[in-house]
Amino acid sequence: MSDPTDNHREPNATTPPEADGSRSSDEADEFTVTPYAVSGEVNYDKLVARFGAAELTDEQITRFPDHPLLRRRTFYAGRDVDDYLAAAGAGDPHAVVTGRGPSGPMHLGHVLPLYLAKRFQRETGATVYVPLSDDEKFLAKEQSFASIGEHTRENLRDILAVGFDPARTRIVIDTADADVLYPIAVRLAKHLTPATVEAVYGEQDTVGLQFYPAVQATHLLLPQLVAGRQPTLVPIAVDQDPHVRVCRDVAAKEALPVRKPGALLGRFLPSLAGPGKMSSSGDAPSIELTDDPETVAETIHTHAYTGGRPTLEDHREKGGDPTVDVPFQYLRYFFEPDDDELERIAAAYRAGDLLSGDLKDLAIERITDFLAAHQRRRNALDELATELEPYRLTDEERRRALDSAGVPSVVGV
Ligand code: TRP
Repeated sequence: MSDPTDNHREPNATTPPEADGSRSSDEADEFTVTPYAVSGEVNYDKLVARFGAAELTDEQITRFPDHPLLRRRTFYAGRDVDDYLAAAGAGDPHAVVTGRGPSGPMHLGHVLPLYLAKRFQRETGATVYVPLSDDEKFLAKEQSFASIGEHTRENLRDILAVGFDPARTRIVIDTADADVLYPIAVRLAKHLTPATVEAVYGEQDTVGLQFYPAVQATHLLLPQLVAGRQPTLVPIAVDQDPHVRVCRDVAAKEALPVRKPGALLGRFLPSLAGPGKMSSSGDAPSIELTDDPETVAETIHTHAYTGGRPTLEDHREKGGDPTVDVPFQYLRYFFEPDDDELERIAAAYRAGDLLSGDLKDLAIERITDFLAAHQRRRNALDELATELEPYRLTDEERRRALDSAGVPSVVGV
């Protein structure tokens, strides 16, 4: 996910290529959401309308593999979700693309879509592609390639620790898999104009960042270029939707043997400091995937915003507010899968029986358990190159992708 605090660029328009582009006057002000800038109070309903996506229906949610992130509408909107669900339901080929911009250590908010993708893979056999955009982060952040490379290697360990099935999962790294990604990105870039890039992302500082959308569009089409036309779903936080829109646009223009990728759009995991987006580099610290239990406890105790009352008597009498309480929201997003139990916790908090400290302890316990399992798998990994090997594109897959993009390798792969 991009960094919401990195909003030095002020996009001057959010007109997507697919929407009619007219923003009604009552929403001219308040908030901006692009991959490189999130500011203001995000109104998720208006955003769906602005981006031209559609709210998920109850019926769609029941057709997805059961998961709290969907059931509780953290992922709340999408594009072409029905095509994906039909293929998944019929056992036809279908793919999920969920990437990572390796600009720092991964925190809880980054890993949730990966665990969701793993659930999809396990339940309906989805092929999962995980691209790492080290080029994008080199361009967007003040970091050397060496530093981005170090984050890429650490992030890869976290991605491998999720436990995807290597037979159905491909991990690509922009700079390391440039042999296949670059020619396809060039093909897509041919009809991607600076005007479109500016309309969708705002003004970019460098031509590198202006080109990058062609690379991310390549990520989203890759499963189909490798394995044939199939519904592809991209579960992402809403700030990444512009990439999907651009990809859909160029895919249609280029007459490639692909369907437009669909999207599953998610809300931001709240920052520990309160409602808003979890950030790696903002003021509030994040819970990193490598944090030990003491660090998790310390971070939550010190920084988590609560919906509790200022005094104990007040709280006992008037009760707390789970809707703004960050520890409660973490349980709701991911860490308390049982709906009845979650409701019991919310009720006890509202009644003043459960204190903010109790809720923090509960969240700490659940998050610590989750991280312990993740870290066990992470620590059990062998050398990175060895572990990564079964997840890399084979020569045959590289050749097929290039051929179906109409850019066959000039010297053979
Ligand atoms: N651009 C994304 C980010 O900044 C990372 C990313 C690269 C991605 N390729 C992707 C996300 C494909 C989803 C799908 O976090």
